[in-house]
Amino acid sequence: MYRTHNCGALRIADVGKEVTLSGWVQKSRDKGFMMWTDLRDRYGITQLIFSEEASSKALFDKARSLGREYVIKIQGTVIERSSKNDKMGTGDIEVEVKKLDILNVSKLPPFTIEDETDGGDDLRMKYRFLDLRRSSVQRNIIFRSQLAIATRQYLASNDFIEVETPVLIKSTPEGARDFVVPSRMNEGQFYALPQSPQTFKQLLMVSGFDKYFQIVKCFRDEDLRADRQPEFTQIDCEMSFVTQEQILNTFEGLTKHLFKKTMNVELSDFPRMQYDDAMRIYGSDKPDLRFDMPFSELNDLAKGHDFAIFDNAELIVGICVKGEAANFSNKNLKKLEEWMKRPQIGAKGLVNVKFNADGSVKSSVGKFYDEATLKAWGERFGAEAGDMLLILSGETDKTRKQLSELRLELGRKLGLIKAGDFKPLWVVDFPLLEWDEESERFHAMHHPFTSPKKEEIPNMLNGDHETMKNLKADAYDLVINGSEIGGGSIRIHDRTLQSKNFELLGFTPEEAEAQFGFLLGAFEYGAPPHGGIAFGFDRLCAVLNGSSSIRDYIAFPKNNQGRDMMIDAPSPISAEQLEELSIDVVLSEKA
Ligand code: AMO
Repeated sequence: MYRTHNCGALRIADVGKEVTLSGWVQKSRDKGFMMWTDLRDRYGITQLIFSEEASSKALFDKARSLGREYVIKIQGTVIERSSKNDKMGTGDIEVEVKKLDILNVSKLPPFTIEDETDGGDDLRMKYRFLDLRRSSVQRNIIFRSQLAIATRQYLASNDFIEVETPVLIKSTPEGARDFVVPSRMNEGQFYALPQSPQTFKQLLMVSGFDKYFQIVKCFRDEDLRADRQPEFTQIDCEMSFVTQEQILNTFEGLTKHLFKKTMNVELSDFPRMQYDDAMRIYGSDKPDLRFDMPFSELNDLAKGHDFAIFDNAELIVGICVKGEAANFSNKNLKKLEEWMKRPQIGAKGLVNVKFNADGSVKSSVGKFYDEATLKAWGERFGAEAGDMLLILSGETDKTRKQLSELRLELGRKLGLIKAGDFKPLWVVDFPLLEWDEESERFHAMHHPFTSPKKEEIPNMLNGDHETMKNLKADAYDLVINGSEIGGGSIRIHDRTLQSKNFELLGFTPEEAEAQFGFLLGAFEYGAPPHGGIAFGFDRLCAVLNGSSSIRDYIAFPKNNQGRDMMIDAPSPISAEQLEELSIDVVLSEKA
């Protein structure tokens, strides 16, 4: 037997017991006649004591030979510690060792296996199996497991059926590039890895499964960021005979259940915000509502005063920074302006208006605007003495985006975001289509299977170009703390409408048939009205823990170049493999 207890189990009540423990040597302290060793496993750390007096010389020498991360089994007696450690569960006891077996030796690990490690990012990723021994990292992975279990509980108790869908499929456009897999048996042909199981879950609705879910890997070949991995996990769901309202309620229920089960946090009902309002008031379709600072627009009050930059701008919009902000030094303002002018944000300048505590008003554009005008601006923002307005101008979408970045930066800098605060909301009524100036074509704002709102269907079938730009969809996102946690829509379930959507997206009927004939065909065999949503599971793990990096919640993540540093992937394959896959021809032609 390897153990009677795990390394986190023993308490003062166990004193006197003969126990067997197994685990890893965390570290040892050798005092010459006594030696203490911390024995670690997933459950905790137990202090072992070897004394020259109580043990044989052979045992004491063996204990001295232990290195960090050796795997050992010990037998001994639980005794009360003379100096207790109230920071650990087992801190009242130690185990006096009578027998020691070395189960495996270990090389010296390349970094310390402790919460505060000395290992850099690359090194930890290369030795991820060791990084995963650190309890802080293990906690995240265990949290993820609990979240998955709680998800299954909620969905199963609401009659959802978990169905697996294939991984070797045909491309499904979700806006990113596909990862492709060559087929050996079908020369020159490729599978695509799913960007999501979108079309399959819709087909399952046609099959009558009614409520589907899957905790499923998705693959997208896109640029990586802290909240994006090339392979990530979704809680993917679909329901039949439902309205948008029923879907939102079901998944608000899931979110509340998960917060309660895993964090013991009770969320109140989620506010709903129209997409247009989110863009106008927060400059973002994923507003962080943990602090306020809404936008106000100034076109009517700021144009026509000979300030050419504002006069020529499509939009003049700002935020009001509350309390003491008027005391911002010019140096700090300059810094903020420089931050806004970096290429990542690209603002041309930043106008300020300070409402000083003494009632005076001072502005960086004071020579164009008299005090009465500036005070009228202040009124629009609800500015009080001590507040400061920060204003940007330019093309509408760009300016909103820039101001949104500024708002978030100030939220962070001014400490407006409280740890442990959760502010979920639904953003609803997304546009159906997005016009891309560069390629001069429409893209699906969510994906091509999203239904326009019922009242928009005649407009979609007969409208002109301008009408198409303004079509609203039954599409929604779940946003928590400024992070897009989930997105979904009511789907088109009618062949004619789906064909029309493909046409608007620039597919010829032949292309639509070649790529999506299976779905269009299925719609002709009694497709029920249906809709669904997918949560980003990794993002949900991160946001619940107040983290912005999803990598910490993935056992074996990829780095920002999409590489797995541990197994060294991607990597070249042999000439034989290439030949077998008929790729050699293509490559040699290129060379
Ligand atoms: P969408 O593309 O919005 O919708 O994806 C759903 C959610 O998945 C998460 N997500 C990601 N997480 C980590 N890394 C990525 N690269 C990544 N990309 C997306 C986000 C996002 O909200 N089939 C539709 C869902 C539906 O309509 O039902 C879909 O995939 O949290």
